[in-house]
Amino acid sequence: MKLNIATSLPKSTTNDCLLIFLFTDGKLKGLARKIDSDNNNLIKELYASEDFDGKSGSTSLLHNVKAGPSKRVLLVGLGERASADANVWKRAATAAAKELNNTPSTSAGSDCLVSVKLNDLNMAQMAEHLAREIAHAQYRFTLHPSQMPNAESTLQQLSLSCDKANNEPVTKGAMHGFATAQGMAAARDLGNLAPNICTPTYLADQAISIADAYANFTTEILDENAMHELGMGALLSVSAGSEQPARLIAMNYQGKKRAGSPVVLVGKGVTFDTGGISIKGSEGMDEMKYDMCGAASVFGVMHAIGMLQPDINVIGVVAAAENMPDGRASRPGDVITSMSGKTIEILNTDAEGRLVLCDALTFVHKYKPSSVIDIATLTGACVVALGHHTSAVFGNNQETIDALKNAGELSGDKTWPMPMGSEYQAQLDSNFADMANIGGRAAGAITAACFLSRFAEDLNWAHLDIAGIAWNSGKDKGATGRPVPLLMKYIEQQIKP
Ligand code: BES
Ligand code: MN
Ligand code: ZN
Repeated sequence: MKLNIATSLPKSTTNDCLLIFLFTDGKLKGLARKIDSDNNNLIKELYASEDFDGKSGSTSLLHNVKAGPSKRVLLVGLGERASADANVWKRAATAAAKELNNTPSTSAGSDCLVSVKLNDLNMAQMAEHLAREIAHAQYRFTLHPSQMPNAESTLQQLSLSCDKANNEPVTKGAMHGFATAQGMAAARDLGNLAPNICTPTYLADQAISIADAYANFTTEILDENAMHELGMGALLSVSAGSEQPARLIAMNYQGKKRAGSPVVLVGKGVTFDTGGISIKGSEGMDEMKYDMCGAASVFGVMHAIGMLQPDINVIGVVAAAENMPDGRASRPGDVITSMSGKTIEILNTDAEGRLVLCDALTFVHKYKPSSVIDIATLTGACVVALGHHTSAVFGNNQETIDALKNAGELSGDKTWPMPMGSEYQAQLDSNFADMANIGGRAAGAITAACFLSRFAEDLNWAHLDIAGIAWNSGKDKGATGRPVPLLMKYIEQQIKP
């Protein structure tokens, strides 16, 4: 799908479907007003007959609109004018994207940026959400060989018109939303891929593809020998039981100015988590292919950054390994030495995410980062605590935690701060090493974060536990592409003017 921002109104030849956003008061502006008067009060009569009432999230598709720029017109409700806010706009954008997909339209256009005014969103933010939602709704997973190919999406172009004065910020906002959607699609593809295909080596190849596709990228990929040299005993303890060798992958994007310390993202890339010798139950184990969704979000962000070429330095690091039970696998009771020199008693081989991440956190010190955000499907306990709507954020720097919370609100990809005091650290005490890799049943998401914090003492560090939000189960099983929107918004806000 292509995105087009124009300062003129949508024309007949370019749009298969016109999107018209309306409030419950039925007041018509811009194209809505013109279509209505050119078609004998078509829209006013829909209000009169209550076939369309403008309620938030409601839609009505009009076919065969005789006079006007498009035969197909999709009306989308925004509710009461006085209370229409960011949430109302997001709901409307989602509803519009869904309804649009039920039509064979190849192009869509709207004058909503100029005809609709909302309380707490400017034109650029409106454009960002609409572009993101519509582009995101075009996602189809097509990477597995199949005799029943997924129906391709038909939409090829979205055109939004705006006035000259706002052209620049609107284009920027829309591009951010559009690139975010492309990043989410890349993350979803990697998450959805079968674990026999999406191995640590496959992930390393993705980094090379990204560096080939976009300007200003360099990559560094460490194989197991290189990791041995650096003393990454924790990461290597996880891949020890797998036929698939681990990879530590670094994607280094240097923005135009090439100055300033980088934002570093670190993704958990466990391409399949059986639990190892502390093996998981077999029910639903297939979903542990999603245990690399933190890594997938890092790849997604790097894609979007490649498209946008922002003025900031960003490094995406992925700790990729497969957690399998085997003669060479780590045992409960094993004591290993991490790259930091700190020793770890492995009491449960299923607490492997923190083991791959702790060495990656030590590794990224060399970049002298301005901030480090790790992203991980780390604990089932996080799902119990926050469910499937909100990720958990932990950290050692209040400003960074606040920035992430704010980015979550702005992007709609929400995160909520969790506590991490020294009381909890004590749960990691070990009789045989510097620390144990688990802290008991209570506060599982918190003790996992406490474990990571011990490898991030000298960093401005935050940790996102995305176990509840990275994928959907059941009928809609599939990766969500989150938290790419959150991370993209966070990075955007770190750009110094
Ligand atoms: N990848 C899992 C966490 C997970 C579980 C995410 C279920 C999403 C759904 C992680 O490696 C894990 O197994 N964590 C254990 C930790 C425990 C052994 C301390 C868990 O949460 O049960
Ligand atoms: Mn595990
Ligand atoms: Zn795991």
